[in-house]
Amino acid sequence: MIFLGIESSCDETSVAIISDNILLANLVASQQFHSNYGGVIPELSSRAHLQIISPLLKQALQEANISINQIDVISATAGPGLIGALLVGLSFAKGLSLSLNKPFIPVNHIEGHIFSGFLMDEKPIFPMLNLVVSGGHTLLLLVKSETEIYKLGTTIDDAAGEAFDKVGKMLNLEYPGGPKIQFLANSSSKTELTFPIAKTKNEFDFSFSGLKTSVLRHIQNNFPNQIPDDKKAEIAFAFQEAVTNALISKCEKAIKQFEINSISVVGGVAANQRIKESFIKLGKKYDKKVVIPSPEFCGDNAAMITLRGKQLFEKGFRFSLSENAFPSIHSNHFLRINYEK
Ligand code: KG4
Ligand code: ZN
Repeated sequence: MIFLGIESSCDETSVAIISDNILLANLVASQQFHSNYGGVIPELSSRAHLQIISPLLKQALQEANISINQIDVISATAGPGLIGALLVGLSFAKGLSLSLNKPFIPVNHIEGHIFSGFLMDEKPIFPMLNLVVSGGHTLLLLVKSETEIYKLGTTIDDAAGEAFDKVGKMLNLEYPGGPKIQFLANSSSKTELTFPIAKTKNEFDFSFSGLKTSVLRHIQNNFPNQIPDDKKAEIAFAFQEAVTNALISKCEKAIKQFEINSISVVGGVAANQRIKESFIKLGKKYDKKVVIPSPEFCGDNAAMITLRGKQLFEKGFRFSLSENAFPSIHSNHFLRINYEK
């Protein structure tokens, strides 16, 4: 069977095609122009999705060397995300489903990230400890199967990627700050500077707001006018260390408490080299398989949406065309995250 998937929840339009576990195409069109505004402008994002989605589908079909009539199932991200942006991809997918008379599967973006490790040759093994670290979400999950997802913790304030982006702004870096902070941190040699990691009531929750404030205080107190380049690198390094340590310490607690066979770190922030290396070390320490998707599958992409659509279809899930887009993680009815341990 041939599965088509569409992603348009934020500032990436993406179309992917999977056939028999082989990824035939995964095209991602990134809306770079948002960096001029210091963040994603929803209305501009919707318009850009609308312009690119049709040519991108055409290009994906060409790359996969198939015709549109060979598609058997159509998936699209239904949420969470920017509502206008979501509606472009979702409505496009519904239109295709209607005209081709093929099933339509709305996919939860977070579930797409959760299972993105399965796009790799070396796949996670259930039960897996799953850490979703993206621009919008930070979730620690125990995933026992494709349909049993238990939430252990989440952020009580900023998402990990959001913290990277906000600290990026403080350092006058272009949006998104994550990759630029990594680049700067790499140019810093060891430093005495450290930032504190917040404690949370629930042992598996995260908090990055205090860390962000500590960075701001440090800048205001020491560099009220301009931050010298070497000091910028030092701050980037210390900040990246603090986020890495926070993520590692919560995961280590979970490894000790739950029976797991693998650890998978997913979402945009999982592309961070320092975080990746630290998790590989953690896996070695506890003899657990670690799967971190390659960077193309860490950031938003349709391959993960297509794969999740395929999993749901093969499990027998069917949806009507009246399924709608939803902006928030709390406002949907088909996320299969069970909110108990
Ligand atoms: O998963 P994603 O592409 O979009 C969302 O669903 O949010 O994640 C985007 C986030 C941004 O906050 C970005 O700064 C962060 O991922 N990011 C990184 C790196 N690459 C992207 N953060 C740290 N280090 C990186 N190398
Ligand atoms: Zn995402």
